[in-house]
Amino acid sequence: MGSEKKEPFVIRGRLFTLLDGGGSDEHLYYDDGFLAVGDGGRILFVGPELPDRYAHYQVHRTQHLIFPGFVDAHVHYPQLPVVASYGTSLLEWLDKYTFPEEIKYGDRSYAERRAAQFLTVILAKGVTSAAVFSTIHQVAFEALQASSRDLGLNLVSGITGMDRGAPDALSVDVAAFKDINAKAIEASRNLERFSYAITPRFALSCSDRMLDYCGQLLESDQSLLAQTHINETEDEILATSELFPNANDYLEVYASFGLLSERSLLAHGIHNTETEYERWAESGASVVHCPTSNTFLGSGLFDADGYVSRDINIGLGSDVGGGFSLNPFVTMAEAYKVAKLRAQVLDPLRLIYWHTLGGAKSIHQDDSIGSLEAGKYADFCLIDITSDEVGFEIWERAGTVQEKLFSLMFLMPDSKNRVVATFTAGVLRWQDEIQSGF
Ligand code: GUN
Ligand code: ZN
Repeated sequence: MGSEKKEPFVIRGRLFTLLDGGGSDEHLYYDDGFLAVGDGGRILFVGPELPDRYAHYQVHRTQHLIFPGFVDAHVHYPQLPVVASYGTSLLEWLDKYTFPEEIKYGDRSYAERRAAQFLTVILAKGVTSAAVFSTIHQVAFEALQASSRDLGLNLVSGITGMDRGAPDALSVDVAAFKDINAKAIEASRNLERFSYAITPRFALSCSDRMLDYCGQLLESDQSLLAQTHINETEDEILATSELFPNANDYLEVYASFGLLSERSLLAHGIHNTETEYERWAESGASVVHCPTSNTFLGSGLFDADGYVSRDINIGLGSDVGGGFSLNPFVTMAEAYKVAKLRAQVLDPLRLIYWHTLGGAKSIHQDDSIGSLEAGKYADFCLIDITSDEVGFEIWERAGTVQEKLFSLMFLMPDSKNRVVATFTAGVLRWQDEIQSGF
């Protein structure tokens, strides 16, 4: 992990990063840049010339693009096996495909195998941090936490709270949930790269007592985050209004139980009323936009301007298995397309901001991750941009760095260009044996 002693080193090559605090358009791009990494896994220096004080470090030259590690701000690890489940919308999809798979995670060895598989796949896509949903089972949470430690990722997660609206095997009463949740919180304290998020799945799977417990816990312990779903489909909103008749809207359900705060990550938010946007903005909560899920399940079209114009922080999430891809470039391309269908145009740098610094901000870690800047963790990936002849021609021809990066979003999934190595805290955690050349 980050505090282990490791040999410091320098990596040299094409380098891109956004800059923290600079909004979505302040960035660095070098055709030939240097990234110096210290023995604690933190970045010491980024720039176009290597200062003399690092001249004795081993320098690795790469032909690949050095890029900040991505933050997947909303994803379900037990749902990787249900990606591409055909024909349904959210509520039927949960019942037909998702809940039956999640039941299997009560088995420790199944959960361990799936956790390691999931984390290896996200590393291979250049994701170094993620806010992850688990299941109701303590063993599923423990498997994820242990695997994350072994594989070196930076995670936020929690036991997924459900006490109604799901099969018996996925529901626990509030007393039992309090017990496993408290144990999971204690097991997460003081871990360097793991934070706990209270995780009531969504209003439809939680009783008043469950939401009340979760909200009180969030208010009483400032070290905790909260994550859930909101305003994803019309059916879900209607069913929620029937279950919570005293609330004026969906956001008010969470707000009334203390779950709306600046430490809350609310996924989807695609059918907000005007009142909900205003209240959301006042609360400081982040939205996690999950475009591949919204198009795949036919949930609706996220209104980026609705959030941007109110200065609400946005992260991007794959929402696998509602989402069909863990690849951040696919997610960014889908977000661009969704916006276009609403006659909005998203700058590629804004999309990258959402998938790096925006995500980092949503989990309150923008001081330590999300960009390649001195003092932050050396979480980065190497992207092969030269292997695909046409792709590289388009990259070379593009006049601005925005256009170059935009071309990757649309060309990478269908070309030879891809992430070939991923580092967290300065340690190589995954590499494509043939391509990485590191
Ligand atoms: N709402 C409640 N649970 C889920 C889930 O697993 N996926 C999505 N997309 N929405 C949800
Ligand atoms: Zn989700």
